[in-house]
Amino acid sequence: MLGRVNHIALAVPDLEAAVARYRDSLGATVSAPQVLPEHGVTVVFVTFDNTKVELLEPLGEASPIASFLAKNPDGGMHHICYEVTDILAARDHLQAAGARVLGNGEPRIGAHGNPVLFLHPKDFFGTLVELEEVKG
Ligand code: CO
Repeated sequence: MLGRVNHIALAVPDLEAAVARYRDSLGATVSAPQVLPEHGVTVVFVTFDNTKVELLEPLGEASPIASFLAKNPDGGMHHICYEVTDILAARDHLQAAGARVLGNGEPRIGAHGNPVLFLHPKDFFGTLVELEEVKG
């Protein structure tokens, strides 16, 4: 059911500082910031040969990562994203197996323009899991 690890997402309190650290100290390739009001975050992608690291900064009062950063003021790993080829089939399979899908259970369009869903961290050993539908 699962394909590649699409990305690992880190919540950061200061995106500019995080970009500078990844770009200047680690020499990594970092994308321009994308403002995603519908997701309550501003995001950049750090690209690696085999995957990406997503740096997330809260955007707006109701940001879904605000409470995470309140508990982890220095930032921390927020979620891991696995690729699936059929997100509705994956959702149905997981729900039948007792896993909880966050929100209304319907996929939303994520930062890469693909449908995404989030799975309850309590069902995945304390880690928030994102599924992203990637064709082919
Ligand atoms: Co993500």
